Amino acid sequence: MVKAVYPGTFDPITNGHLDVIERGARIFDEVIVAVTTNPAKTPWFTVQERVAMIEACCRHLPNVQVMAFDGLLVNFARQQGATVILKGLRAVSDFDYEFQMAAMNRQLAPEIETLFLMTSLPFAYLSSSIVKEIALLDGDLSGLVPDLVAEQLRRKAAERRR
Ligand code: PNS
Repeated sequence: MVKAVYPGTFDPITNGHLDVIERGARIFDEVIVAVTTNPAKTPWFTVQERVAMIEACCRHLPNVQVMAFDGLLVNFARQQGATVILKGLRAVSDFDYEFQMAAMNRQLAPEIETLFLMTSLPFAYLSSSIVKEIALLDGDLSGLVPDLVAEQLRRKAAERRR
């Protein structure tokens, strides 16, 4: 029984995140999508909104649950009995930061392995930040985020333009 934690800010969840979650759910017995409550960047969505959107997008995945966490990721993983931290890797530009986090998490919790899934190609340059910019500029979000997320993004973007 292998439980994996897939952590992130998810402000908001994109089709790239969903791709990693779906593939992770086929590999691991259980996947916990762990939404950080204290990101450095000021998020558009509250943690409750982010959790609710991910839950709605993952209804078809019975072995996936969504939880908010604060503090150290490795402490959360230990509390949940997870032995794997699951991460997605997009372009080479992700590597340095991810390598640093994986090395530090390994030092803090040697029993937990960080495993990376290479992004599926259509999502290689997709990020929550770029999706928010497109929403703000009223661009087409189809194919980038699930429809229900696109709706929420358009609502938030309209509020921000006011
Ligand atoms: O989606 P993001 O913003 O790239 O996710 C970053 C995240 C949440 C995975 C990272 O900031 C994190 O693990 N935060 C929890 C605090 C922590 O454990 N920090 C030490 C990491 S070595």
